[in-house]
Amino acid sequence: MPLSIDVLTLFPRMLDGFLTESILGKGLAAGHLAVRVHDLRAWSTDKHRTADDRPFGGGAGMVMKPEPVFAAIEQLQTPGCRRIYLTPDGTPLSPALAQELSREQHLVFLSGHYEGIDQRIRDRVIDQEISIGDYVLTNGTLAAAVVIDALARFIPGVLGEEKSLTHESFTSKLLDFPQYTRPAEFRGMSVPEVLLSGNHAEIEKWRVARQLEKTRQVRPDLLK
Ligand code: ADE
Repeated sequence: MPLSIDVLTLFPRMLDGFLTESILGKGLAAGHLAVRVHDLRAWSTDKHRTADDRPFGGGAGMVMKPEPVFAAIEQLQTPGCRRIYLTPDGTPLSPALAQELSREQHLVFLSGHYEGIDQRIRDRVIDQEISIGDYVLTNGTLAAAVVIDALARFIPGVLGEEKSLTHESFTSKLLDFPQYTRPAEFRGMSVPEVLLSGNHAEIEKWRVARQLEKTRQVRPDLLK
């Protein structure tokens, strides 16, 4: 059974392009995974379809109400599924975490308001909280897309070539080497000679040297 993903959000249309374009769109069409996006307001019961309210204790901004979220998750969850809340104060997304998620059967993603959601949601119907980085988005919908994109690449068949997975940044703990394609000469800039040489040992040596150089410049923390 392919991995099945439900996304709960107040802004379902933010994911339209994401789900139809590129490698992810093809992966979905080919049935390597299934993603369903749900508007949280479908579970709100009052006539204004409200999903948020003012915080107890005061303060700026709105807080996502528990009732629609509990109702939605209780309807969508399956035994053994992992229920994930996207939040800047969650566990940082890593390649290892993305790979771990890619091996699950069923994921439910909850995208919240940046101001926050009622703590009782996190206490009772969330299994894991994930952050995609130390910056704050206006809501978690794009964060859910990022996590889905990152995990989809680990699902067999989603990427054409298995090779593109093993060779990339972060699986090797080094940043990528520069890539070139035709033409060999463009506006006075030529492709490094070694890449045209056909000497695979030399090419490999050159690539590793460039990776070390780039990593030292941009992410010295990865070399420690
Ligand atoms: N929601 C808002 N900012 C976020 C972030 N950095 N990661 C995950 N979810 C978020």
